[in-house]
Amino acid sequence: MNLKALRAEAQELQNEIVKWRRDLHQIPELGLDLPETSAYVERTLKELGIPVKTGLAKSGVVGLIAGCEPGPTFALRADMDALPIQEETGLAFASRHPGRMHACGHDTHTAMLLGAAKLLQAHCAELKGNVKLIFQPAEEGPGGAEPMIRDGVLADPPVEAILGMHIGTIFKEVPAGVIGVGYGPLMASLDRFYIKVIGKGGHGAMPETTVDPVAITGTLIGALQQLVSREQKPTHPLVLTIGRIQGGSAYNVIPSFVELEGTVRATREDERQSIARRMEAVVAGITQGLRASYEFKYDFGYPPLVTDEGVTRHVEETARELFGPEGVMTLSEPTMGGEDMAFFLERVPGTFIFLGGANPAKGIVRAHHSSTFDVDEAVFWRGSAALAASALTWLDKNHKQRHASRR
Ligand code: NI
Repeated sequence: MNLKALRAEAQELQNEIVKWRRDLHQIPELGLDLPETSAYVERTLKELGIPVKTGLAKSGVVGLIAGCEPGPTFALRADMDALPIQEETGLAFASRHPGRMHACGHDTHTAMLLGAAKLLQAHCAELKGNVKLIFQPAEEGPGGAEPMIRDGVLADPPVEAILGMHIGTIFKEVPAGVIGVGYGPLMASLDRFYIKVIGKGGHGAMPETTVDPVAITGTLIGALQQLVSREQKPTHPLVLTIGRIQGGSAYNVIPSFVELEGTVRATREDERQSIARRMEAVVAGITQGLRASYEFKYDFGYPPLVTDEGVTRHVEETARELFGPEGVMTLSEPTMGGEDMAFFLERVPGTFIFLGGANPAKGIVRAHHSSTFDVDEAVFWRGSAALAASALTWLDKNHKQRHASRR
């Protein structure tokens, strides 16, 4: 397959991708409940002649482009959900749903994957296998990847490699239109914990008659941070943030309990499991040592996102061929944000790439999840081209390898 031709075809699709994005941008929906968005995706795929399955994880949509030659299946994944934010961009195609906004660019992911679908469908005679198009809900919570996997998205035909993409400024060093790729741990796990330090309340002037949970909490916070500073390998990033702490109701009363809530971010599964265990041990040891008791809850959310070296290298080389060396960059360190693409990458080798979407020259600089977030639409065709070309050339390469091994 000539990637120059595919690049030109993607450029010709640019206006259509922009139209899809603007349509989707006006109908933002939340979580697993995306009736208008998934109907739009289903309708568009059917118009392209692509068979569609719906209802996975409630609003998930899956298209399958079957190549003319039998072969393995490569999956492309986009998320479709928005955020509970009132849009303040003033754009002509701003949200028509009060209190909801595509403030993370998932509308653009959906539109770019539709663009890739159109490119691939036009070349289905050249596909040496299948391309599965996965449109998932609820990336911003409660999570759509895991329920789609439970509903069989990775089976029938089985997915052998997967690629997802995020637009914007998650990695600020990626300029507009450039593709950022990263090897190994690239994004962090996203976990939540709750701690209740249970003491015995009483008069603020008579601490000896109480078990003061406020004082115990002070000790506990320092000890928990030592898990990061003294037990974690310093070259492996780990975050433990306590974002909420509440206790007491009067200046001169010792309360009977204090509550804390926070988040842990790790880039390796073993380290994530280890800090969850060690946190409870520290909470138990300090509260019991100081005559209090405790409750501890640790909710495992999205796992660390770890890319596969082979698929990442393949996508990097494909993007370099499409856009030249200046169109691709290698990310040197992970971000501590989380992504539920990680669930797919736990089960199937694959990668997650970042398409630079901010453009200071055009005044497009606002951060993700802000009410004025926007992206430079001029980059869309590049996203569609990168997705389509990576799938096409991966199937080609696999076909050649299988052929060679049979001889
Ligand atoms: Ni996002």
